[in-house]
Amino acid sequence: LAGCGGDDAGSGGGDDKLVMGFAQVGAESGWRTANTKSIQDSAAKAGIELKFFDAQGKQENQIKAIRNFITQRVDVIAFSPVVESGWGPVLKEAKDANIPVILTDRAVDTPDTTLYKTFIGSDFVLEGKKAGEWLVKEYEGKPDTVNIVELQGTPGAAPANDRKEGFGDVIKADPKFKVIASQTGQFTRTDGKEVMEAFLKAHPDIDVLYAHNDDMGLGAIEAIEAAGKKPGTDIKIITVDAVKDGMTALSQGKINFIVECSPLLGPQLMDLAKKVHAGETIETRVLTEETTFNQEQATAALPTRQY
Ligand code: AHR
Repeated sequence: LAGCGGDDAGSGGGDDKLVMGFAQVGAESGWRTANTKSIQDSAAKAGIELKFFDAQGKQENQIKAIRNFITQRVDVIAFSPVVESGWGPVLKEAKDANIPVILTDRAVDTPDTTLYKTFIGSDFVLEGKKAGEWLVKEYEGKPDTVNIVELQGTPGAAPANDRKEGFGDVIKADPKFKVIASQTGQFTRTDGKEVMEAFLKAHPDIDVLYAHNDDMGLGAIEAIEAAGKKPGTDIKIITVDAVKDGMTALSQGKINFIVECSPLLGPQLMDLAKKVHAGETIETRVLTEETTFNQEQATAALPTRQY
């Protein structure tokens, strides 16, 4: 419908394809690559015309893209916000233009929830809690201090804020768990490696690494090995995502536990977009189903892992 030039854009009917403008975060991780593929494949399968934009990790790029989608009068706008705050004005512009917005993967912190139709994605606080719970169990009955280093995701991003919060909430119950260093690794392998190198230099006594995603954990593994230590044994590693590379490292014993975060949001997103466009009422929060993996479970799951 968008691009037809008429004022009726968004009103449906005929053979016109529903047009979705999608502003992606970037290509920072294996998770993101799988998420982009899921969205592109699902749009094609659902007969939805997708205008895809890669914001290269910058909020201002995403805001520009959303404004472009509004000007083009797409039928539905979907995006995965780089950071949580600062979306009020552009979301208001979309609402005033009568273009429904669907948040995918990450939330925004605007108090006005009428600015978007629904939010589909994971419960990141719960993911952090699952990571903390594994740790508590792993060190059950062991009274010694557990020195933890944390690699955080992109500053201000919902998964970074929430995974930190959930993990912290669980481990604070026992003072033996000490987060001795916590810094961003930007959700990338390169930064994960670099920051872990610095952690290793500053702290010879690290027991555990908690990385907010697999990619940072994989970068950190390189740093740990280069420092002559054995990842998964000398330093226990917990990550989030469960992409193939992470699962491979887990099954090899280099990671100890992964909390799954599913990137396969495409099919549900297209379904929701069609419903919103047809004026149907949809749930305002759609949660993704997820599990966790230990080393044996990763080995069993790997042969059929899609991403
Ligand atoms: O928003 C989801 C997070 O973003 C993934 O866990 C991480 O890998 C990605 O970059």
